[in-house]
Amino acid sequence: MEAYFFDWLNLFFRWFHVVAGIAWIGASFYFIWLDLSLREPPQWKKDKGIKGDLWSIHGGGIYEIAKYQLEPEAMPKKLHWFKWEAYTTWLTGFALLSVMYYWGAEQYLIDPSKMDLTQWQAIAISLGFLVGGFIFYELLIKSPLQHSAKLFAVVLFLGLTLAAYALGEIFSDRAAYLHVGALIGTIMAGNVFFGIMPAQRELVRAIEAGEKPDPKPAAFAKLRSTHNNYFTLPVLFIMISNHYPMTYAHEHAWLVLALISFNAAFVRHYFNLKHQDNHQPWILVAGAVMLFSIIGFMLPKPIETHSDVISDARAVQISEQRCAACHAQEPSHPAFASAPAGLYLETLDELVAQKPMILQTVKTGYMPLANMTKMTDEERAQLVQWASQSD
Ligand code: HEC
Repeated sequence: MEAYFFDWLNLFFRWFHVVAGIAWIGASFYFIWLDLSLREPPQWKKDKGIKGDLWSIHGGGIYEIAKYQLEPEAMPKKLHWFKWEAYTTWLTGFALLSVMYYWGAEQYLIDPSKMDLTQWQAIAISLGFLVGGFIFYELLIKSPLQHSAKLFAVVLFLGLTLAAYALGEIFSDRAAYLHVGALIGTIMAGNVFFGIMPAQRELVRAIEAGEKPDPKPAAFAKLRSTHNNYFTLPVLFIMISNHYPMTYAHEHAWLVLALISFNAAFVRHYFNLKHQDNHQPWILVAGAVMLFSIIGFMLPKPIETHSDVISDARAVQISEQRCAACHAQEPSHPAFASAPAGLYLETLDELVAQKPMILQTVKTGYMPLANMTKMTDEERAQLVQWASQSD
């Protein structure tokens, strides 16, 4: 019964998280595009304090958008803020993290072959990473490095890569990736909560009080919002990476993550330049070359096969002992109400149908999950060999 509610909470928060994330990242894409697409307005608009305008068409109508340098002539009755997209994404993300990796710590967070932590130790380390990483970013952005975009990016990138490496030494492979994503998400939400919102509140307060607004906090808020924009593609990659053990369970998973994230942010840069009519197609070409290099780098090593063929009966026997506790019509493992990933590994036909997936997940060590069924190295080698034998 507990497993059933675990699944439901997991599903509910995941669904909510994705919806909120779409709203947030959609708004980020839209506003960065909007800002970079503003062009010099006609004189009569400039006289009103408008610094740029643009026209667009959507949903059967034409929009005229104008951005003020700082303050409009009068505050409108209704001013739309964009903050709940960010807060909801973070809150649902943290709820999902708590259900899946804290409640389900034994299945998903802890990997005893790396570090044999108790549930509470693992949770404490996880929270420590999120808080520590967030503080690291806040110190960085308030340091003089904020004035040098390139240097800032290098230090931040190295910091996150180090975090990915360290997490990979502590937690299960999948949890390590997820934590880098959670850290980036926390930094992004923190940018909104601690940086962008206070600056905007101050702007509105100054305008309403009839004071001349200080342009500095607004410019700083813009910097934070630009950082968030570059984070979007890496964080989305991490969100979907958990479907691809070839990434997070790679023997150099941290490096794979660093390379893919760098490439993704680089491609984002192409679009941000393009919005300003600055076409740099070489970025896309370089991105493609990098992607192919990463694919080459990640190429699975050929499997060492032994001369003796592993029989089908032996494969079924291993699966019965090490896989079927979870992957069965009626799992005997208490953490699972139904077969995880909808995958049954009880009969020979089922095993044969899943050969490629079995090969990948068992070879990388991702399955059996957290090796909860205590598969031996020899059994692993035999199952991998069986799965790589042609029928
Ligand atoms: C303790 C429970 C448990 C055991 C034992 C277990 N698995 Fe899994 N397996 C899972 C869970 C949970 C998932 C879903 C993970 C996810 O969502 O990425 C999964 C997913 C899979 C997938 C699909 C992966 C994907 O990306 O869709 C394969 C293939 C798989 N397991 C194979 C095996 C094999 C082979 C064994 C035995 C050697 C095994 N599992 C043992 C829990 C288990």
